[in-house]
Formats: sequence, structure tokens, C-alpha cells
Amino acid sequence: MKKSVLLEIEQLSKSFGGVHAVQNVSFCVRDQEIVAIIGPNGAGKTTLFNIVTGILPPTSGSVLFKGMPVTGKKPYQLAALGITRTFQNLQVFTNMTVIENVMVGMHTRLKTGIFSAGFRLPQVFKEEKQALKQAMACLEQVGIAHLAFEKADILPYGTQRLVEIARAAASQPSLILLDEPMAGLNPQESKKLVDVLLAMRNNGMTFLFVEHDMETVMAIADRVIVLDYGKKIAEGCPEEITQHPDVIKAYLGEEEGASC
Ligand SMILES: Nc1ncnc2c1ncn2[C@@H]1O[C@H](COP(=O)(O)OP(=O)(O)OP(=O)(O)O)[C@@H](O)[C@H]1O
Ligand SMILES: [Mg+2]
Repeated sequence: MKKSVLLEIEQLSKSFGGVHAVQNVSFCVRDQEIVAIIGPNGAGKTTLFNIVTGILPPTSGSVLFKGMPVTGKKPYQLAALGITRTFQNLQVFTNMTVIENVMVGMHTRLKTGIFSAGFRLPQVFKEEKQALKQAMACLEQVGIAHLAFEKADILPYGTQRLVEIARAAASQPSLILLDEPMAGLNPQESKKLVDVLLAMRNNGMTFLFVEHDMETVMAIADRVIVLDYGKKIAEGCPEEITQHPDVIKAYLGEEEGASC
């Protein structure tokens, strides 16, 4: 049976003055898929992510999530609906413990207001206990529950990346966007992250990720979308994409591509 469409991107464009960062890009992501976005530097990958996660408004086009238009919604509104992300540069709060870092991602799910929190009403304790349990479950998912009470800044880079992913999972999303998750990781850390992402997918998660590391793309992507100068130039399974003439040309450049 074909899985249902979770995210639909329709004719999305974004210009910064004269720079057409994203141009008429359309594609969809189905439930429990792992979809990769690849393309040379400056192709518009992060800009596309910024639009889907509500950081930037598009110049034109629309984004639908679970069939509902979500274009222009704020990041916290999208998180409450089920879309979260990690960033191209590591964003871990170094002065906090690992579990506190994860709990930051849960605020859209917490119901306690300032009044009840200020007066430490019983429901606050109940909610805090529940939040702690939920954060611990997210850390277990990425295999670092034993580090919950360590300060985040003493951890290796690859472990901090897992903290970010646990935080993205903390608001119980159905779709997580990862911007270059493998960047800066050593081969062992990359392998661990691949296993974590595949296990999370098997538990029901859907991923859209930007990645330069083709080994990772080949290992985990069900489908690949290729951007070049803001345009979608190809879409297909990883094997198809690596042999696509336009993709080879985009990566090798006009002249080298012509001589192949
Ligand atoms: N806020 C901005 N203002 C002006 N131009 C921008 C802005 N953000 C991105 N751009 C431009 O839009 C284009 C696409 O940038 P983007 O960061 O989306 O590329 P990318 O595919 O993520 O690249 P990389 O692989 O290097 O991360 C580039 O030409 C970039 O200079
Ligand atoms: Mg980028």
C-alpha cells in the first residue's frame, strides 16, 4: 500500500533581491520516508528548509502538511503541528545538561502557564515529571540516556548532534528536517547516526534531510531531490540520481560534464 503524503511543497520560490535562491520547487514527502535534498553549495537547500520550518516566508508557492496549508506559520506553530528541525551549525546550549537541552524542545507540548508554574501548583510537578520521562525516552531513542545529567559542552561533537536530534524529537513531531546532520562527524559517529535515524524511521518518524555526504544519502535515502541554482533538476532513488546526466553536470561543472 502506498503511504500517505505528509508534506507537500508546491511551486515554492524565494528571492533575496536579485538572487533567486529557490525557484518553483515542488515535491512531496510521504509518511515514514527518508528524503534527501542534495545540491552544490548555494543551491538553495537551507533556504528551502527555512521556508518549510517557518523561519522565512516564501516569495510565492505553498507548503502543505497533512493536507493543511501551513505556509507562513511560525516555527513554534509548526512544532506544535508536528514539524521540527536541526540546523546546519550545531545548536546545543552549552551551559545546560543534556536532558535540559532536550526539554527545551518540549515547550510547545507543555500546558502549564506562568501563573501555575510560579505558584508551583501540583499540576506543575506532575507535568515536570512527565516531561522528564518523555525527555529521557528521547535520549534513549538516540542511545545517550546514560549522559542525561552531563553538561552538554563536555560531550564530543557527534554526541552533541545526537542531543540536537533528541531535542527535535521531544515535541513528538511526525516530520524532522535535518540540515547536514553528518557535517563534522567522524566515520564512527556518522555510522551511529545512520543507525539512529533508521531506527527512528522504523518507529514511525519521517525525515527530510540535506546532506553532502553521498555515502549517507546512498545508505538511508528512499528518494533524493537535487537542487541546482535554486531549481529542482532531478528526483529519484539514490541509484538513479548518481547516474543522472544533469546531476553529474551540476556537480562536475559545465565543461567537465561535457567532456565525460
Ligand atoms: N538571508 C539571505 N539574504 C540574501 N541571500 C541569501 C540569504 N540566504 C541565502 N542567500 C543566498 O541564497 C542562495 C542559496 O543559499 P542557501 O544557504 O539556501 O544554499 P545551500 O544550498 O544551503 O548551500 P550550502 O550547501 O553551502 O549550505 C545563495 O546564493 C545564498 O547566498
Ligand atoms: Mg545550507
